[in-house]
Amino acid sequence: MTSTNDIRRAFLDYFGANGHEVVASAPLVPNNDPTLMFVNAGMVPFKNVFTGLESRPYRTAASSQKCVRAGGKHNDLDNVGYTARHHTFFEMLGNFSFGDYFKEQAILHAWTLLTKEWGLDPDRLTVTVYHTDDEAFGLWRKIAGLPEERIIRIATSDNFWSMGDTGPCGPCSEIFYDHGDHIYGGPPGSPEEDGDRFVEIWNLVFMQYEQQADGTRLDLPRPSIDTGMGIERVAAVLQGVHDNYDTDTFKALIAQSVALTKKTAEGEARASHRVIADHLRSSGFLIADGVLPSNEGRGYVLRRIMRRAMRHAHLLGAPEPLMHRLVGGLVTEMGAAYPELVRARPLIEETLLREETRFRQTLEKGLRLLDEAVVGLPEGGTLPGETAFRLYDTYGFPYDLTEDALRAQGLGVDRGGFDTAMAAQKAAARAAWKGSGQKASEDVWFDIAEAEGATEFTGYIGETGEGQVVALVKDGARVDRAEAGETVAILTNQTPFYGESGGQTGDAGTIRADGLVARVDDTSKPLGRLHAHHAVIESGAIAVGDMVHLQVDAARRTRIRANHSATHLMHAALRKALGPHVTQKGSLVAEDRLRFDFSHPEALTPAQIATVEADVNAQIRGNQEVMTRLMTPDDAIEAGAMALFGEKYGEEVRVLSMGHGDEGTYSVELCGGTHVHALGDIALFKIIGESAVASGVRRIEALTGEAARQWLTHRDEQLRAIASTLRTTPDEAAARVAVLSEQTRKLERELAEAKKALAIAGASGGGVSAAAAPELVNGYKVLAQQLDGLDPKGLRGLIDEAKGRLASGIAVIVATNEGRATIAVGVTDDLVAKHSAVDLVRTGVAALGGQGGGGRPDMAQGGGPDGAAAGAAIDAVKAVIAAA
Ligand code: ALA
Repeated sequence: MTSTNDIRRAFLDYFGANGHEVVASAPLVPNNDPTLMFVNAGMVPFKNVFTGLESRPYRTAASSQKCVRAGGKHNDLDNVGYTARHHTFFEMLGNFSFGDYFKEQAILHAWTLLTKEWGLDPDRLTVTVYHTDDEAFGLWRKIAGLPEERIIRIATSDNFWSMGDTGPCGPCSEIFYDHGDHIYGGPPGSPEEDGDRFVEIWNLVFMQYEQQADGTRLDLPRPSIDTGMGIERVAAVLQGVHDNYDTDTFKALIAQSVALTKKTAEGEARASHRVIADHLRSSGFLIADGVLPSNEGRGYVLRRIMRRAMRHAHLLGAPEPLMHRLVGGLVTEMGAAYPELVRARPLIEETLLREETRFRQTLEKGLRLLDEAVVGLPEGGTLPGETAFRLYDTYGFPYDLTEDALRAQGLGVDRGGFDTAMAAQKAAARAAWKGSGQKASEDVWFDIAEAEGATEFTGYIGETGEGQVVALVKDGARVDRAEAGETVAILTNQTPFYGESGGQTGDAGTIRADGLVARVDDTSKPLGRLHAHHAVIESGAIAVGDMVHLQVDAARRTRIRANHSATHLMHAALRKALGPHVTQKGSLVAEDRLRFDFSHPEALTPAQIATVEADVNAQIRGNQEVMTRLMTPDDAIEAGAMALFGEKYGEEVRVLSMGHGDEGTYSVELCGGTHVHALGDIALFKIIGESAVASGVRRIEALTGEAARQWLTHRDEQLRAIASTLRTTPDEAAARVAVLSEQTRKLERELAEAKKALAIAGASGGGVSAAAAPELVNGYKVLAQQLDGLDPKGLRGLIDEAKGRLASGIAVIVATNEGRATIAVGVTDDLVAKHSAVDLVRTGVAALGGQGGGGRPDMAQGGGPDGAAAGAAIDAVKAVIAAA
């Protein structure tokens, strides 16, 4: 038997040997088309090559492309499990020519591979061509020698293939395999064509046009070829079975779920096993390509697929979560061809387990409600939409799960009623929001969110992407168009731009399209669900409905990432250094710095700051990869995540784990922000400030990477400048400064001593100062003197000295210094009963423009601001002595 893996290999080898570049499958989330939910055909990754927008170093290619048809335009979800050939995930084998070969070579290759390489019986093959395509008709005659009755002309759109409402398109030719007359059905175009005997296995599209949104078609630069062969179908043919689910890959997956549930794939259980096998493939591949379950957009399609499979696991009686146990088998079957499955295996298993554990909590109750609701419904009846909505809202049953559950009983669901109930809930949410006192000017965001849904954020994985403009907001109102010079908020259906939240600054960058250049300075996140790009249109114009290319300023984002991850590390380091009372009180993660506020009662010591810095830098050098997981808030907290008190989280949270500590992971936090891939990307961490913001709350400011390096360089330059002034080396500078300041203190002391000595010399009658001689005032010996520049600290010594010399008398000294004056008066003991030094000093102080003055009756001191009045102060004191 030829295995599916062999078939894939043989296909790629055949075209590789015939000069085609073998190209790996692109991820399921398209990066070149914002209108597509998932890649749904092999040509999608080459779309821009066909139209000439993009050029590649090859002109022919072959691939085995992962495709998902669930959600969006092509949606096969409802049929999966009940038919032989519907899948949510499948692989499309294809060969492509971008203006190289055309119809003849394409037909020749297809015919050679099928009949020569793979040995299919030509008599079992029938082809179709577009009814006007005589050329293709003639080529099939010539190359394959098919009789005319097995080249069927088809006039309908079945034989004109287009990617979507817009994009490359052209007439096509399909190859059908006849599984034999034991199966009901007729060739294409016949009345029995809907039977299952003739199965289309390969579609050759002769790409010639590009469909425009206005309905017109442009010629492609050159006629091209796009072909698509579902590997599951051709595997069925080559393995001699009729049903895709009987091919090797599916048999292996189904055998696994049979073994684990102990329910054979017969009767009603057959569909359940098929659903599980198919949905395991789509869930696994979607998770491997970065999609995670959520309640919006792609994540919701994944959740619908997962929950549908999980209900079937429950139907099979699985007592425990089942899906995650099947991942090993999927990796065995498909991991060699798709190594991303091997890499993502733990994430796939964990995501499936969590989703199933959680869904099982409400599944039983929901099913009971459903059972009660259908009692009494007639055959072919419909479940009220209200009930379907309750199942959705309270029990987590996606709409199509309810539909699927009723299908076996021949019942339907009232979709209109479901939609009405959903709309009523949204209206109530809006009313509640208005009641909460939000500004009416924000109504515009509610309108947009309601009409267009949340913006899908694609920026965890990349920094560029395509988006479709869903709204433009100018001065608080919606507009259809904006032109060069205008400032507008641009909203797209998806974006890699991070909207400011959780302390992390919004992204900046550019939005471009034909002729349009819009500079995005900031991105905000109104209602927590929309991403509004605040932009200035630099050239061209933008209109609602336009496809645009979004490019985040990657260098800026890199700096923000480093600052954000460093904040997490610092938070953990602070708790380690200071204790578990440290909790985050606020943070700012900007492009140029980070700021973190946390509870702690006192200033950090320099040693504590040094410890925190050293710890964070050790983690950075450890260069561990940063792990992101999606969990319920409770699970996350159980796993040790630091949750912020009072912070509201959605039903699913991202959990960031970083580094290695003494007790396992160094830092675990709930966070929606963007982070480095490995801690070494932070490069360097430096704390530059520590201060108080409120009582019990400290703030640290820090830098990372190049900003930290520049800061340190600047410090170094300053140190060098200091060293050079001091005529020493930076290493010696501190010691030198210590010596210098000790010297300065010593010199100051010496200077004061010298001044005092000088003053005393003058006072002792050495002829230095005439005023130094005592005079008689009212019969008392008075020694009065003004000393300029004397340190007032020396005054007391001088007064004692003077009193000693006078034996009986009064000493008055005024010292002036930097414009101020200090006056001291000494009275010898024999005179204190007559004259109090305190009273005399007060008189002098008043004359110096001051107040008060104090001491004892024999010695008092005071000062005043008016140094120029020193002589007047002495006179005033003398006048008091003279008067008594
Ligand atoms: N693009 C073509 C298809 O999907 C081959 O059928």
